[in-house]
Order: sequence, then C-alpha cells, then structure tokens
Amino acid sequence: MAAITMKNIVKKYGDGFPAVNDVSLDVRDGEFMILVGPSGCGKSTLLRMIVGLEDITSGDMLIGEKVVNKVAPRERNLSMVFQNYALYPHLTVFENIAFPLRLAKKPGDEVRRRVTETAELLELTEHLERKPANLSGGQRQRVAMGRAIVRQADAFLFDEPLSNLDAKLRGQMRTEISRLQKRLGVTTVYVTHDQTEAMTLGDRVAVLRMGVLQQVGSPRELYEEPVNLFVAGFIGSPSMNFLPASVDGSFLETPLGRFEVHDERKVAAAGDRDVVLVGIRPEHFEDASLVSEEKRQRGSIVRARVDVTEWLGNEQYAYVPYEAPADLAAQLRALSRELDSDQLRTQAVVALDASSEIRPGREAELWLDTSRIHIFDPSSGENLTRDEERVERLGRIAEESRDAQREAQREAATGGATVAEP
Ligand SMILES: Nc1ncnc2c1ncn2[C@@H]1O[C@H](COP(=O)(O)OP(=O)(O)O)[C@@H](O)[C@H]1O
Ligand SMILES: [Mg+2]
Repeated sequence: MAAITMKNIVKKYGDGFPAVNDVSLDVRDGEFMILVGPSGCGKSTLLRMIVGLEDITSGDMLIGEKVVNKVAPRERNLSMVFQNYALYPHLTVFENIAFPLRLAKKPGDEVRRRVTETAELLELTEHLERKPANLSGGQRQRVAMGRAIVRQADAFLFDEPLSNLDAKLRGQMRTEISRLQKRLGVTTVYVTHDQTEAMTLGDRVAVLRMGVLQQVGSPRELYEEPVNLFVAGFIGSPSMNFLPASVDGSFLETPLGRFEVHDERKVAAAGDRDVVLVGIRPEHFEDASLVSEEKRQRGSIVRARVDVTEWLGNEQYAYVPYEAPADLAAQLRALSRELDSDQLRTQAVVALDASSEIRPGREAELWLDTSRIHIFDPSSGENLTRDEERVERLGRIAEESRDAQREAQREAATGGATVAEP
C-alpha cells in the first residue's frame, strides 16, 4: 500500500491546451479518493498519469516517497480497472483473474490460492470455470475487479468502472466496491462523472473543472460547505437553486420574494455588494402549512407560483419558474450547461413533504430555512458564507466515521474475532 502525492501536475496535449492544470492532491495511504467532474474535465488524464500511461508535462507524481514521473507503468505496481472491462473471451474466469499472476510467472500453487481467495471475496467461486460471454454484466465487472485485486498492488485505480451497467446493478456494485475497498484497505483512486457515485463511495472527493481542482473534501463537506458555485451546483441532485438577489441590509430581495436572513455572519458576508446569488438546496424549502410554529420562526415564508409538481412517494418536487435579470440569467444558463444539466429555464426546484397539497397553477406559501442558505459572489462564483470552523469539524467527523467503517469491515473479514490484549 502507498500514498499517492500529486504536486502541481500539468498535462498539455499536442495543441497546448492544459487538460490538467496545476493539480496538487494528496491521496493518503488506504484512502478511497474520488475524482469527479463533468465530461472532459481531465479526470481520465490525471488517472492515466498516476498509472504512467500518459507523460506528465510538469509537476511531480509520487507513489509512497518516490517520484515516479519517469518510472514505467509496469514498475509502479498499480492496478487499473477500466470502463470497458476488457476480459479475455477465450479464457475462463479463473484464468482471467489469474492473468496478472501468470504474467509475473508466479508458481502454480500460489496462483491457485490467490485466485481462489479473490473469487471467494467477490462471490465468483461457482463461476471459475465459465467463459466471460456466459456471465451477466455485474459478474463480468466482478471478474475485472478480481483481476485488479489479485495482484496485491500498492493502489487501485478505477476509470468509470460502472458506467456500462444499468442503474440497479450500478447501485449494488457501488456497495460491493465500497465494502471491498474498506476490507482490503488499499489506496484507491476512482474516476466518475456521476456525483451520486462520488458521494456514496469516497472518503474524500476531489472536484475538477476544466483541468483545475476546485475542492477536496468529505462528501458532506462538499455538500454543505462548497467553495464556489460550480461545486455547489455539481454536487447534489436535484441541484442547488441559485437565485439572483439584491441586498437590503439583512433582507434579500429574490424573484421568489423578499426574506430576512437572521444569521449575522451571513449578512456580513454579502459585504457591500448590491447583487448576490443566493444558493438554496431544494430540501431547505417546505410547504409552509406543514411547518410547526417553532420552525417557522427559524426561517422565512415566500409566496410563489408552482407550475409543475412531481410526486415521488417519499417526497415531491415542485417547480417554480421565475424571471431573472438578463445578464444573471445568461450566467446561470452557462453554468447549468457546464454542469451537464439541460435546465434552460430559470426555475427553482423545491422538495416538499409527500403529504403536501400544493398544486400546480396556484400561488403557494413556501417556508424556507434561511439558516441553510449560501451567498455567492456573482462575478467570481466564490461562496461568501463558507464556515471554516464547521469545515474543520466536518473533516474530523468524516475521519472518525471512516476509521469506524474500516474497523467494522476488518472485523467482519476475520469473522468478528478480536485480538486479546496480552
Ligand atoms: N490523447 C489526447 N489528445 C488530445 N487531447 C486529449 C487527449 N485525451 C484527452 N484530451 C483532451 O483533454 C481533456 C480532458 O480529457 P479527459 O481526461 O479524457 O476528460 P474526462 O476523463 O474528465 O472526461 C479533454 O478536453 C480532451 O478532449
Ligand atoms: Mg474519462
């Protein structure tokens, strides 16, 4: 096992465009790190530089303590799983998994032992004599993973390994990969464009935008304390709403109405700006008629006309179109295009309790948890209300929960046996 350290990594392809631009990132020993961002942001390029399949234009790549810029891929002792899992069709599952060991000319009994162990871990034992063509998509994906982990590499690298699977299988495999990684405790870098995968798998998540690293943190930190509009909009589904607002003391005047921000710190964060973008997650709205008096006091009420509702059983979404000043509307549209979302209209999405009777076409009273709003600078996109103290606390919580999960997986792996103190 080993840590992976990237220092000011730059990659320019032939045309001089920096696909990866000055990325510095530490992946700790045993950590599960996700690289996430929209298509074309440089994730695969960065991963390929870790493995050694792509030259580094400038900067240093370290595995453990060692600079590996000039080290050949096969000498880096890393294992990679690709999107198209490239199994050998004429070989059995056993031989597919054994392949890297055969390549390394390991003795037959060691190969048998390791393949058997790996197959057990991945629940492939009954399929060892079958050919890939006769397996399901999920089983094939597990064989590809088996081939990667059989080799006791210093780190595992995954490039969108689940994007060929259907949604249900993707969910199952996600849980399996997570469990496996925690059990083996091997440093892992996992590339995906899917924010759900990023949030559910990562100890920490690194968000890339056009080759530039935006933020690295626990899923919860990214969700609750994003550094800028890009991260705030990318993480979370449905996305955070961004409303243009003019600032009037402790009041914000938005297209959904005027409301007071009760938090001094947030009011101060807006500074002397006349216009800001207010970020509100869909779940921080509620049907005002369902909110207790005590809760009402903590937030504000806005009146809005809902044009569409979607009832999902456990909750429902209501869409509230609004007019925004032309320049801000254009900026929001550009952001949503970049985030691969096709939302072309300026509209707010609010998540309401399933029991809400708010109906389309009518004016609705919406309660808004003003303590959870973010305020962004419209020109730089910076989150002006990020709470550094809270960020630190979230970091500690994430670390503790990671250690606990790891411990639980190890115990499960050893059949719950604990080692007695001497
Ligand atoms: N071999 C290549 N030659 C030239 N440009 C490339 C090459 N590979 C990738 N790129 C460009 O580098 C950028 C990042 O690509 P990539 O790392 O594949 O992104 P991602 O994996 O995040 O979708 C894109 O603009 C892409 O067009
Ligand atoms: Mg890619």
